[in-house]
Amino acid sequence: MLSKIKLAQTPTPVYELPRLSSHLGGPQLMIKRDDLTGLAFGGNKVRKLEYLLADAQDQNADIVLTTGAAQSNHCRQTAAAAAREGLDCTLVLAGDEPDRPSGNNFLDQLLGARIVWTSPAERDRTLGREVEVLENAGRNPYLIPYGGSNSRGAFAYAMAVEELMAQLHGQVPDWIVFPSSSGGTQAGLVAGARYFGLESQILGVSVDEPAEVLTARVVELANEAAQLLGGGFSFTPQDILVNDEYIGEGYGVMSDLERGAIRDFARWEGILLDPVYTGRAGGGMLDLIQRGFFTPQESVLFWHTGGTPGLFADTYQPDIL
Ligand SMILES: Cc1ncc(COP(=O)(O)O)c(C=O)c1O
Repeated sequence: MLSKIKLAQTPTPVYELPRLSSHLGGPQLMIKRDDLTGLAFGGNKVRKLEYLLADAQDQNADIVLTTGAAQSNHCRQTAAAAAREGLDCTLVLAGDEPDRPSGNNFLDQLLGARIVWTSPAERDRTLGREVEVLENAGRNPYLIPYGGSNSRGAFAYAMAVEELMAQLHGQVPDWIVFPSSSGGTQAGLVAGARYFGLESQILGVSVDEPAEVLTARVVELANEAAQLLGGGFSFTPQDILVNDEYIGEGYGVMSDLERGAIRDFARWEGILLDPVYTGRAGGGMLDLIQRGFFTPQESVLFWHTGGTPGLFADTYQPDIL
């Protein structure tokens, strides 16, 4: 068994969305609220960090480093987990340093992380240099991969499938829909579904990568998670469902798709989506419903992966209402 520390408030709630569902004329909609994992506004990375920080502690690390975009949820959750475990934290953020921190970036600083700004092209080099400087100073840094997506991060989501199944009481959704980006969440869900025998179709809505690229990443991570599970099974690209129709102008560029989904979830169900990930996947799901991809008789579970502090980022907020 992999070592794990407890960071998340689990099980996260699962329930039906009757008002949104009847507004749309079906299908039956359900939600799994991983925006409520509980650590500094929650989100999917808290589950991954339970295994990643346990590994850091097993290796006697005294500082964790990771990287992401200026409004990275993964970085904010890493900063919170490090604070809680008494580890220092350096975040290498790719983007322009804002004049006034807001949203996730404000929280990173509030949570005590040291921030190093860099460009997307320089990101990995900057991270490598930070690790080297720390090692030369006698520190013991632990590097958390982009998005927390390695075998441990994926394993965390395989275990989340077991949690979900215990909540369904046999009412298995035909589909599970969620945003997919660095692939660890999707990899874990498909590996966990195979291992625990969940028969739902698992559809990742790509946030930023073409289906081919994301699928290859998910296959690799799902196979690593399968090995950790010891299930004796493996995956090929044919086993992975990715929809890349909603990438639009690219990562973090909001359109009417995200704005409409954020408003619909808020006004029909009192649920807040985020501008980058769940807004895009939620918008994709609503569009697929309108196009008849899911039949009114089917059931669809939307796995809310968090990201809500993005609603308070200056870059997005004025655009939403
Ligand atoms: C809110 C939110 N949803 C979904 C994702 C995508 O998860 P993954 O990187 O495991 O594909 C992220 C990743 O940063 C996220 O912050």
